[in-house]
Amino acid sequence: MKLVANVASGIEAVTKRELSDLGYETQTENGKIYFEGDYSDVAKTNLWLRSADRIQIILANFKAWSFEELFDRIYEIPWEEIIPLNGKIIVNARSKLSKLFSLSDIQAISKRAIIKKLQTVYHRSGHLPETGAIYSLNVRFEKNQAEVLLDTTGDSLFKRGYRIEKGVAPLKENMAASLILLTNWHPDLPFVDPMTGSGTLAIEAALIGANIAPGLKRDFLFNHFANVDPKILEEAKIFAKEAINRSVNLEIFASDLNQNMIAISEQNAHGAGIHNLIQFKQVALRDLELDNKKGVIVVNPPYGQRMGEINQAHELYRQMGEKFIPLNKWSKYIITSDLDFEEYYGEKATKKRKLFNGAIRTDYFQFWGEN
Ligand SMILES: C[S@@+](CC[C@H](N)C(=O)[O-])C[C@H]1O[C@@H](n2cnc3c(N)ncnc32)[C@H](O)[C@@H]1O
Repeated sequence: MKLVANVASGIEAVTKRELSDLGYETQTENGKIYFEGDYSDVAKTNLWLRSADRIQIILANFKAWSFEELFDRIYEIPWEEIIPLNGKIIVNARSKLSKLFSLSDIQAISKRAIIKKLQTVYHRSGHLPETGAIYSLNVRFEKNQAEVLLDTTGDSLFKRGYRIEKGVAPLKENMAASLILLTNWHPDLPFVDPMTGSGTLAIEAALIGANIAPGLKRDFLFNHFANVDPKILEEAKIFAKEAINRSVNLEIFASDLNQNMIAISEQNAHGAGIHNLIQFKQVALRDLELDNKKGVIVVNPPYGQRMGEINQAHELYRQMGEKFIPLNKWSKYIITSDLDFEEYYGEKATKKRKLFNGAIRTDYFQFWGEN
């Protein structure tokens, strides 16, 4: 099958490397990494990819300029091999620079073609029951070229299933993992998140450090498909559990000014089953004590986007500079939407990377440590 991993813009290289580490050859486009595989690969990638949003199967690719053509091309897909009589069919549409642009029409006509095909094959004239497993399809037009995709994931992969509570402006789990995978951190080095909020960065670092598959605690749509043996996911989960490094020794430190956030982080770390791998502490940045040894600091500070908070954010960036610049052996990585961050921090970044934290345009400021 032709498969595609959807990722946030700017994160493609991370997902490409993850897929390549899992043994796949890939092709990258904006926000999409294409690869090939069967349902065991669907299980493996849903279970293991830390940076992606979802995995979809590409069912068809065609050009269409009219709704008649769209209906015919969709009807031609062998839906009876994919969707059982009681399958619940959801169709979403997107269109960019294409003659067919009405999303509600693309949706309705695609669904009508699928239903018509199933009615014909299953010899049903009336409504189909749609009481069974969910088949969530995406019909995406770009320059009159349509891609028909079947979602295998369901809730986005950032929903790992461990987060019990969140604080203000939490990072999505796949974004936090991507930020870590963009650093030079490896499990032998200390990892510090001094503004941990609900603990996402520290928890994702612990999952990476102990080689715990991020999807172990959740379910996926494909596992309920009529043509998929549930043993495929069961077995992938067994392998993943065997792959956990249970004797790993990690130095992960998570702190926050706010005691309530520390309590929330601890709960979430419990939920993720890695509470013993993180040292939590309530401490303000200015009182944080770090030896000047090799390690990695990743920070998602307040961005100061709300009225009246910008000066506070700038003051915090100044404090970060005072604290971090002398620690020249540490590598420091800071994500913020304040593109003048370096000015307040007091040092030019070694490298910057444009990223979107949800809808927010940010830069990932990287200050590489001396080796
Ligand atoms: C944007 S949130 C971090 C969100 C976190 N990455 C998550 O995924 O939940 C910023 C955090 O910085 C903390 N903070 C603000 N000022 C601080 C300071 N001076 N020292 C330590 N933490 C501070 C806030 O309490 C807040 O939890």
